[in-house]
Amino acid sequence: PADADLDAVIKAGIRDIPDFPSEGVLFKDITPLLADPVSLRTVVAALAGPHRAGGVDAVVGLEARGFILAAPVALELDAGFVPVRKAGKLPAETYRESYHLEYGTATVEMHVDAIAPGDRVLIVDDVLATGGTGRAAVDLVRKAGGTVVGFSVLLELGFLSGRGKLTDVDVSALTAA
Ligand code: PRP
Repeated sequence: PADADLDAVIKAGIRDIPDFPSEGVLFKDITPLLADPVSLRTVVAALAGPHRAGGVDAVVGLEARGFILAAPVALELDAGFVPVRKAGKLPAETYRESYHLEYGTATVEMHVDAIAPGDRVLIVDDVLATGGTGRAAVDLVRKAGGTVVGFSVLLELGFLSGRGKLTDVDVSALTAA
C-alpha cells in the first residue's frame, strides 16, 4: 500500500491503554494489529521491503514484542533470526550491554556466536521510545563484528527522542506518534 494507507492500517491496529504498566504511562498496544491477518502481513512486508536486495544475513529481534515481528521479517529476507534477550535468559556465552532507564538500569544480552564478523544485520523492534534498547542492540551486534544495516520499528514515539541515541544507524519507522 501507499505510505498513507500503511500509516492508516497501523494506526487502526494500535490502541492506547492509559496508566499501563504504571500510572501516567500511555501504553501502545499492538495486539489488535497482530491479530489481524492482513495487517500483520502488510507490516511484515513493509519492514522487510527496503532490505530485500540488501543481502541481510541476520535479523535481530528484541525481547519480547520485537521477536514477533523480527522472525517473519527474517523469513521474508531469507535471513536467520537472532534474539537479543533480557539478562539471564540466554544459555550460552553472551555479550552484555546495560543502559539507563528512568529508574535504574536494564541489561540485554546476545550470544557471542550468534553473528559472524562481517554479517549484515537488520535490527527489528515494535516500538522506538527512548532509544536505550535499540542503542544496546546496535552495540551488541557491533561487538560481535556485525554490520548494522538498519534499525526498523513499527512505531516511533517521537516525543521521547530515541532517534537521538541512534544517529550512527539507519533508523526507520513505519509510523510515528
Ligand atoms: C519495549 C519495546 C522496545 C522498548 C523500547 O519493550 O518493545 O523493545 O521497550 O523502549 P526504549 O526505546 O525506551 O528502550 P519492553 O522493555 O517493554 O519489553 P517487552 O517487549 O518484553 O514488553
